[in-house]
Amino acid sequence: MSYNLLKGKRGIIFGALDENSIAWKTAKLAHAEGATFVLTNAPVAMRMGEINKLAEETGSEIIPADATSIKDLENLVQKSVEILGGKIDFVLHSIGMSVNVRKGKHYTDQNYAWTEKGWDVSAVSFHKVMQTLHKNDAMNEWGSIVALTYMAAQRTFPDYNDMADNKAYLESIARSFGYFFGKDKKVRVNTISQSPTPTTAGSGVKGFDGFLSYAEKMSPLGNATAQDCAEYTVTLFSDYTKKVTMQNLFHDGGFSNTGVSQEVIEKF
Ligand SMILES: NC(=O)c1ccc[n+]([C@@H]2O[C@H](COP(=O)([O-])OP(=O)(O)OC[C@H]3O[C@@H](n4cnc5c(N)ncnc54)[C@H](O)[C@@H]3O)[C@@H](O)[C@H]2O)c1
Repeated sequence: MSYNLLKGKRGIIFGALDENSIAWKTAKLAHAEGATFVLTNAPVAMRMGEINKLAEETGSEIIPADATSIKDLENLVQKSVEILGGKIDFVLHSIGMSVNVRKGKHYTDQNYAWTEKGWDVSAVSFHKVMQTLHKNDAMNEWGSIVALTYMAAQRTFPDYNDMADNKAYLESIARSFGYFFGKDKKVRVNTISQSPTPTTAGSGVKGFDGFLSYAEKMSPLGNATAQDCAEYTVTLFSDYTKKVTMQNLFHDGGFSNTGVSQEVIEKF
C-alpha cells in the first residue's frame, strides 16, 4: 500500500549494495511513494552490478561516488540536480565500514590508519555530503537529511569496535550541521538508530547472530527489520515531520529503554 507521501520529491540515496541493504528497501519504498531519486555508491561497491537492478526497478540513474571524496560529491550533487530537474528534497546517508572490524583487529589493538579510514567513511563522509549540498545550495526548503546509526554510540557493545566511536561522531555531526542547515535553509537533519539488521555491514560484526537474537528477545516489539526502517525513513522524508531535527531517533522495537526482558531472565 502506498500513500503518495513523497509525491514530486527528489532525492539522493547512498548505500544500496544488495537487496538486504537498508538503502535498497528505502529506495523501493520511496519510489512507491512517488519520489524520484539518484542512486549512488562507492565505485568498488558497484562491481557486482546489483545496483543496476534497483535502478531499473525504480527508474533511477546511478552516479558513482566515494562518499569521502569531495570531488565525487561535487559531481554527484551537481549532476543529481540536473538529472532530477531541480533542487533536492531528501538525502539518505546509509554508509558504514570499519577496516579494524573487517580485519578482526581488537578495539584495544587498533591500527590507527584503519581507524582513520573507517572514521572518514562512516562519520566524516556525512559532514562532507552535507557541506557539499550546503555550498551548492542544492537542498529545497523543508528538505530532510537522514543518516543511519546504532546504539553502540551511547552504550558499549564490545564487538562493535571502533564503529561505536564513528557512530557517536556521526550523531554529533547531525546535531551540529542540523543547526546550520536549519537556520540557513530550513533543512532538517536526523539520525535513525536502527536495530541490528542482517545486511552485509551488519553481519560483518563479530558474533552478529547472537547479537541479533539477544536484541530480538530484549525488544518488546521485536527487532525493527530493514523494511521497517525504510518505512520510518520515508516518514522522515515526508512533509509530516517538518519540525523534527537534530535528533537521534531510536528505531529498535523498544530495546534502548528496556532494562531486561522476561525471556532474557528465563535464560538464566
Ligand atoms: N545492519 C545493521 O545491523 C545496522 C544497525 C544500525 C545501523 N546500521 C547502519 O545502516 C547503514 C547501512 O548499512 P546496511 O546495514 O544497510 O549495510 P550495507 O552493507 O548494505 O550498506 C553499507 C553501504 O556503505 C557503502 N559504502 C562503504 N564505503 C563507502 C564509501 N567510501 N562511499 C560510499 N559508500 C560506501 C557500501 O558500499 C554499502 O552500500 C550503515 O550506516 C550502518 O552502520 C546498520
